[in-house]
Amino acid sequence: MKFILTKDYDDMSRKAANVIGAQMILKNNSVLGLATGSTPIGTYKCLAERNAAGDLDFSQITSVNLDEYRGLPHENDQSYYYFMHDNLFSKVNIDCNNTYVPDGTIADAEEACSKYEEIIAATGGVDLQLLGLGHNGHIGFNEPADVFPKLTHCVDLTESTIQANARFFASKEEVPTQAYTMGIQTIMNAKKILVVVSGSDKAAIVKKAFFGDITPQVPASILQLHPDVTIVGDAEAFAEIKDMI
Ligand code: GLP
Repeated sequence: MKFILTKDYDDMSRKAANVIGAQMILKNNSVLGLATGSTPIGTYKCLAERNAAGDLDFSQITSVNLDEYRGLPHENDQSYYYFMHDNLFSKVNIDCNNTYVPDGTIADAEEACSKYEEIIAATGGVDLQLLGLGHNGHIGFNEPADVFPKLTHCVDLTESTIQANARFFASKEEVPTQAYTMGIQTIMNAKKILVVVSGSDKAAIVKKAFFGDITPQVPASILQLHPDVTIVGDAEAFAEIKDMI
């Protein structure tokens, strides 16, 4: 695993955008696995600026997102579909027909999830997967569990995740309790993985996930077994590992 220590959130965002930009320059038709949450917002902003400046071209890029709340329509401003269009797709020259987010509006979970695996397979596979990190070690919406869930599936969100995401909704009661998410195997199939972490509230889980035991109770710990992982974090998020990297 490669750890890139950055000064602060803005520095983390620029460096993460550099890694994604390098991937796009080396392979202009890359398949990018994208993430939501507050951490990658600055990265998307940098990518949009570089696209506007003519330095990065999204015209041949395909994207597949990690997850989506079950039941939220696209136009709901808390859906991850909306998030991606708002933060990235509407700001760059990507062809929206080549952007995929699990469809939270498909009520039949099995159908929604198997359809998504087919979509990912049809892209030819993810070249670079961007990930954030949940406070309990979740990646995508793979919550702590007894086994690593393999493929795209429907999850019951944990109380801590609902709590953490309540800040984006008018009230906690409005946070959906289920989501569709790529599974651990789906994520591990990506050729490269880029994790972004920021803030002191992530310091403990960063240490546990990347230096602790590999266990489905800390889903991100599986990344220790992936051959090409880069973790870009700011000083606060790396506070507990700075002497280990
Ligand atoms: C959500 C998303 C994850 C994300 C996590 C962390 O639960 N499903 O993909 O990584 O939140 O979010 P944040 O970056 O806001 O801390």
